[in-house]
Amino acid sequence: MSVKDRSVVVVGGTSGMGYATAALFAEQGARIAVVGRDADKAAQAAAALGGDVVAAGLDAADADALGEFMGGLAAVDHVVSFTGLQPAARVGDTDHEIFGSAFDARVWAARNCCAIAAPMMPPDGSFTFCSGLSAIRPRPGRSPGAVATAAVESFCRAMAVELAPIRVNALCPGAFDTEVLRRALGPDPEAGLARLGNSIPLGRIGQPEEIAHAVQFLVTNTYTTGITLRVDGGALLV
Ligand SMILES: NC(=O)c1ccc[n+]([C@@H]2O[C@H](COP(=O)([O-])OP(=O)(O)OC[C@H]3O[C@@H](n4cnc5c(N)ncnc54)[C@H](OP(=O)(O)O)[C@@H]3O)[C@@H](O)[C@H]2O)c1
Repeated sequence: MSVKDRSVVVVGGTSGMGYATAALFAEQGARIAVVGRDADKAAQAAAALGGDVVAAGLDAADADALGEFMGGLAAVDHVVSFTGLQPAARVGDTDHEIFGSAFDARVWAARNCCAIAAPMMPPDGSFTFCSGLSAIRPRPGRSPGAVATAAVESFCRAMAVELAPIRVNALCPGAFDTEVLRRALGPDPEAGLARLGNSIPLGRIGQPEEIAHAVQFLVTNTYTTGITLRVDGGALLV
């Protein structure tokens, strides 16, 4: 129940919660590969993580690019993916492309990870995919992202039965202090974070390291599969 000397691919490991996860696993002696769309950002993340971290700039929704990258790795024991998109559009303004973009970023990317990496994995391998509270508590004008988060949780359950004994779980974060959230909070992010924190039972926004800790549980607990682990400071209760 350890990641020491195991090969972990963190798709979306170049910033935010994915970076915190890659950093925790690197600290624990895993062999890390990080993937993001921006190749420069990926190279910077790998340099900051230190050691022999492998980096790639590719879109995980592109099956050929992901396949070529994974095929070049010596081993893949665990895959964790944080990809996702929350396009803003009220339903009358959505089209097939907007819905497709949300699905591609979260569900099709997860499909690609499973289709490509499962055949390379040992029986004790695992996948962890990121969803979000919008799966259960949607906001107006965000239906494409909401259905994509719900769909990826369902996809994890489907993969848990199809790929067993390889384990497949979903991680559902509440509000976490990353650049993405700060940008979404507008001109005064500190005030926004405090306001948001006050609306949550634990009274604060989560830190990316707290998500990394939850991912560690999903990756290393050998009897956990097909679950959605919600890590939200109690946000969904109020
Ligand atoms: N922060 C929150 O409060 C919060 C709450 C609930 C759910 N979430 C979800 O958690 C996930 C991570 O969020 P974060 O706040 O940590 O954001 P972030 O810092 O932007 O991290 C996203 C990571 O995924 C990569 N990425 C995104 N789309 C990709 C794709 N199609 N292919 C390959 N890499 C891709 C990004 O790199 P590039 O930019 O270079 O592609 C980056 O490394 C997202 O799915 C988000 O929807 C976040």
